[in-house]
Amino acid sequence: MSAGHMSTAALLILATVLGSFCINATASREAQRYNFRFVRHARDAPLVSYYNYIIVGGGTAGCPLAATLSEHSRVLLLERGGLPYGNRNVSSEYHFADALADTSPLSPAQRFVSEDGVVNARARVLGGGSCLNAGFYTRASSGYVGAAGWDHRLVNASYRWVERALVFRPGVPRWQCALREGLIEAGITPDNGYTLEHVPGTKIGGTIFDRRGRRHTAADFLRKAHPRRLTVFLHATGVANPVAYGVVFTDPVGVQHHVYLRRGGAKNEVILAAGTLGSPQLLMLSGVGPRLHLEKHGIRTVHDQPGVGQGVADNPMNSVFVPSPIPVAHSLVQVVGVTRFGSFIEGVSGSQFGIPLHGRGAARRAARNFGMFSPMTGQLGTVPPRERTPEAMRRAAEVMRRLDRRAFRGGFILEKILGPLSTGHIELRSTDAHANPAVTFNYFRDPRDVERCVRGIEAIQRVVRSRAFSRFTYANHTAMEAVFRRAAGTAYFPVNLLPRHPRDTRPLHQYCRETVMTIWHYHGGCHVGGVVDRDYRVIGVRGLRVIDSSTFKYSPGTNPQATVMMLGRYMGLRILKERWIRKGAEDKH
Ligand SMILES: Cc1cc2nc3c(=O)[nH]c(=O)nc-3n(C[C@H](O)[C@H](O)[C@H](O)COP(=O)(O)OP(=O)(O)OC[C@H]3O[C@@H](n4cnc5c(N)ncnc54)[C@H](O)[C@@H]3O)c2cc1C
Ligand SMILES: *[C@@H]1O[C@H](CO)[C@@H](O)[C@H](O)[C@H]1NC(C)=O
Ligand SMILES: *[C@@H]1O[C@H](CO)[C@@H](O)[C@H](O)[C@H]1NC(C)=O
Ligand SMILES: *[C@@H]1O[C@H](CO)[C@@H](O)[C@H](O)[C@H]1NC(C)=O
Ligand SMILES: *[C@@H]1O[C@H](CO)[C@@H](O)[C@H](O)[C@H]1NC(C)=O
Repeated sequence: MSAGHMSTAALLILATVLGSFCINATASREAQRYNFRFVRHARDAPLVSYYNYIIVGGGTAGCPLAATLSEHSRVLLLERGGLPYGNRNVSSEYHFADALADTSPLSPAQRFVSEDGVVNARARVLGGGSCLNAGFYTRASSGYVGAAGWDHRLVNASYRWVERALVFRPGVPRWQCALREGLIEAGITPDNGYTLEHVPGTKIGGTIFDRRGRRHTAADFLRKAHPRRLTVFLHATGVANPVAYGVVFTDPVGVQHHVYLRRGGAKNEVILAAGTLGSPQLLMLSGVGPRLHLEKHGIRTVHDQPGVGQGVADNPMNSVFVPSPIPVAHSLVQVVGVTRFGSFIEGVSGSQFGIPLHGRGAARRAARNFGMFSPMTGQLGTVPPRERTPEAMRRAAEVMRRLDRRAFRGGFILEKILGPLSTGHIELRSTDAHANPAVTFNYFRDPRDVERCVRGIEAIQRVVRSRAFSRFTYANHTAMEAVFRRAAGTAYFPVNLLPRHPRDTRPLHQYCRETVMTIWHYHGGCHVGGVVDRDYRVIGVRGLRVIDSSTFKYSPGTNPQATVMMLGRYMGLRILKERWIRKGAEDKH
């Protein structure tokens, strides 16, 4: 297809409705409290309607983008999941692991297993990953902002807009304080106190959980939307198709609802914000991608774009469980050590004690759970990735049931590496937009990534041995392990303890590879400069952009959500400005 033809082609997004869900009373009351009258079920869509912007994916970037664009234009936001309200697995910090453990089709977390064998999760809910994540909020470095070619002033204003809406300073429990002091003792200095900036040393960052443990999500940005210019359809899954300007929904009865970009506005656009897995997948289903791969799936190529789905990466995460002789309060990520050797160190604590429990069943369950990094969430780091079968998960869970309750006291210290340098790709498995595409991350393919991990684990060893951390560790680690292992009736402990020296363990390089898990910071697949230009327009296609984590070459800051949200706001402002201020100049083209 010629480039000329190409530029007049835009995408037809076919949105199908999955099943016949309804927004239940609790959830819709909460939505009303936020004045979300513009949020509707996809089956209630009119047969034909027109919008200036159609955004596919109501996630971490999509929500702030939609709220911003609706200030001056008519916007449609399509989200395949439901509302985040009225579900404690989303709203309560103490139920963080429950959403990830829930593998039902209604779960806000859709599980996927990369070709590497690491079990992972992607969001399926209004608010996206901000409804599942550990809440840690920290900006990108100014070097990152500069390299992205962003306007520093507008970036700062956009971060502040995000932070006013949903960022809190955490109340830091003792275990996190000890981690912080231990990091400083381990040489990760200076002590930067509480800051949202990305700076070397040890700091306390922000969080999207308030002091009561209630999660605030990107969906909350929709409170800032213009209520008559924004429409949100839930339970609508976009399935791209390269024919005309617009969007088609089918409802559960099979009736099609057509939504078009409004006429007379050359600046009207479809914007993909479906995340690292969703956006490259939708582009390929739309005929924008590597020609041979598209042909294999019988998709007509609209634009041969070999970069789509390439350069996908997930920062490898390795964690160790540090059993504590005393009970430990629950906490998600609050403190980070930003080392100078490309490794970031964080911790989560108190999988058992300190959890406000609901009912006796919950108490029993919580007393036998490692939380974030347990086989229930698919994070089984004690066996190499390819051996993490459902059977291995069941065995590990069985051992957990037999462990002494005291074995669950403690916390995980983890390290995640900068970058990473190793990358992989996303490919279609089928033309079904509901199915996960095949994802390969190639963890640790680049030896520099392994080096960063090894140095991170060494730093964790120093933290655990530090004076500051001593009240949360057993004086005789060997004796402690022996007791827990005996209690389990096996030498196998279902989470990784600190690797010991010298002969009784694998070399650290091997340890890094074999215990690799995810911290869910995957990104790429629609790189700036490859698939989209610096304005996030899909190269070679008119009226289409991608704005989300799929555009990142490297993960921003130590944790990405701040920058994903910022990008939604930032690009919303830039698009509005282009539309209203540079209108005359652009129309002459
Ligand atoms: C468990 C977990 C813990 C994390 N912890 C942290 C943390 O503590 N701090 C931090 O900074 N980051 C954290 N992250 C990472 C961060 O949350 C993500 O990087 C970020 O949310 C990605 O945003 P996004 O907008 O690119 O994608 P998403 O937020 O995933 O948004 C994509 C949206 O598009 C929708 N969608 C996809 N396909 C379609 C389709 N075909 N039709 C309609 N809708 C579609 C999805 O349902 C989803 O809502 C964590 C992530 C997870 C999963
Ligand atoms: C409503 O939905 C939420 C999850 O979204 C669920 O927790 C709650 O139990 C549901 N209530 C009813 C009455 O179905
Ligand atoms: C919360 O998660 C648990 C455990 O994964 C699951 O059994 C339950 O159904 C979920 N609750 C809701 C309201 O989705
Ligand atoms: C943006 O914020 C950063 C960090 O606070 C600061 O260093 C920088 O000077 C700011 N830039 C502009 C242009 O305001
Ligand atoms: C730790 O415990 C082990 C096993 O019980 C024992 O052999 C060893 O001597 C102890 N070490 C110290 C320093 O007490």
